[in-house]
Amino acid sequence: MSNQHHLQQFKDQLTASISSNVFVKISLGNYQGNEKELKQIHIRRVKIKRTDMLSFTYRYKTRDIIKNFPVSEGITLISHFISNDFKIATLFTAEKEVILEHGNKQQISIREQTSGKAVKPDLTHNKEKKRLIQPIGKPYLVQLKLTDSEGNVFKNAQDKYKQINQYIEILNSLVKELPAGSVKQVVDMGSGKGYLTFLLYDYFQQVLNEKVKVTGVEYREDMVQLCNTIAKQSGFEQLDFVQGTIEDYDVAGIDLLIALHACDTATDDAIFKGIKANAKLIVVAPCCHKQIRREMEKSKVKNEISVLTKYGIFLERQAEMVTDAIRALILEYFGYKTKVFEFISDAHTPKNVLVVGVKSAKSESYNIETKKLEILQKISETKAYFGISYHHLERLLGLDQLV
Ligand SMILES: C[S@@+](CC[C@H](N)C(=O)[O-])C[C@H]1O[C@@H](n2cnc3c(N)ncnc32)[C@H](O)[C@@H]1O
Repeated sequence: MSNQHHLQQFKDQLTASISSNVFVKISLGNYQGNEKELKQIHIRRVKIKRTDMLSFTYRYKTRDIIKNFPVSEGITLISHFISNDFKIATLFTAEKEVILEHGNKQQISIREQTSGKAVKPDLTHNKEKKRLIQPIGKPYLVQLKLTDSEGNVFKNAQDKYKQINQYIEILNSLVKELPAGSVKQVVDMGSGKGYLTFLLYDYFQQVLNEKVKVTGVEYREDMVQLCNTIAKQSGFEQLDFVQGTIEDYDVAGIDLLIALHACDTATDDAIFKGIKANAKLIVVAPCCHKQIRREMEKSKVKNEISVLTKYGIFLERQAEMVTDAIRALILEYFGYKTKVFEFISDAHTPKNVLVVGVKSAKSESYNIETKKLEILQKISETKAYFGISYHHLERLLGLDQLV
C-alpha cells in the first residue's frame, strides 16, 4: 500500500480514537526537521475553558514548550508532522498502540500492537487545578457573583478567580513559614468587592482551622455594605468591612497586611500602614504606578537610559519597576526580607507583580545601620538616575529627609 494510504490510515485511527473517547496520547519522535534542539512532541487531550483541545508538548534539549490547539487544527498539524519531519509516531489508545514509521527508501509502514498496560484515557481531561479553596458549596462565592449555585466559576469571573486563588496559594506558603498561630489579625487594604478578603477568611477558617480576624478596608460605601451583608449571612463572625481610607485606618495589632491592586499610591499607603504596625507579613500586588511615572515624565532626564523612557510603553514599564524596586528597598530598610515576582501569568492580569515583605526575626550579623545607609544611598541614586524628586512611600516614612 502507498505511503499516502498509511498516513491517511493513521489520521483516521487518530480521529476515530478521539471521537470514541479512547484516545490516550500521541508521541512523535525521530525528528529530522530544521528546528534546533527539538527532540519530540507529545500530544494529549485537554479541556480548556470547557472546550476540547489538543495540547502539544514540544520537547527541546533543555526545555519544554506547550501549545494548545482546537482538536481539528491539532489533527491537521499532526498529519503535517508525520508526513514530514517526524519519522516515527505512536498513537496510544485504551485498546492498542498504532505505530507509523518512515523506513529506509522512504517507505512508510504502519503496525498495531495491543497496549502493554491497560491505560485508561483521561476522560476528564485536564481537571481544574486542585485549589486550596474549592468553589463548591460556598454560598458566599455565589453571592459575590463568582460562581453559580453548583460551584461553576462564571466565564467572566475566571481570571479574577484564578488571581485570588493564586494569591491565597502564595500566602499559604508564606504563612506556613511563620510560627504556627502567629497570624491573628489580617487587613486587606482597598478590598473592593471583597473577593480576596472572603477567600482569605475562608482559608484561615477552613484550611488552617484558625480563628483569625480579617478586615477589609474600602472607601466605597456600597461595596462595604454588600460585603458586610454577605459576611453576616455566611456566619463569618470574624470577617468585617470598614468604610474609610487606608490612610485613616488604625492598624494596631495587624500581623498580615495585604492589598490587591490598590490604585497608584494607595499601595504605598498600605505598605506604610504595614510597616507602622510592624506587621509580620506585607504582601501587595500594586496597581497603576502614576506617581513615579509623572515624576519621570516631568523631568525627562537626559542620560544614557533616556531611550528607555522615550516611548510611552517603556516609560510605563520603567515607572512600574522603579516604583516597586524602591518599595522593596524601603521594606528592607525597615527590616523586612523582600521578594518581588510575578504571582500569576499576565494572561490573567497585566498587574501581576507581587511585592512581599517578611519581617526578619533575627537581627543581621553585619551592621544594621550601615545597611540602612546603603539602602538610602541606593534610593537616592535611583531617583537621581530617573529624575524622580520623591517616592510617595519614602515621603510618608520621612526617609527623604534623611539623605
Ligand atoms: C482595583 S480595586 C481592587 C479591589 C480588590 N482588592 C480586588 O482586587 O478585587 C481597588 C480598590 O481600592 C479602593 N481604594 C483605592 N484607594 C483607596 C484608599 N486610599 N482607601 C480605601 N480604599 C481605596 C477602591 O475604591 C477600589 O475598590
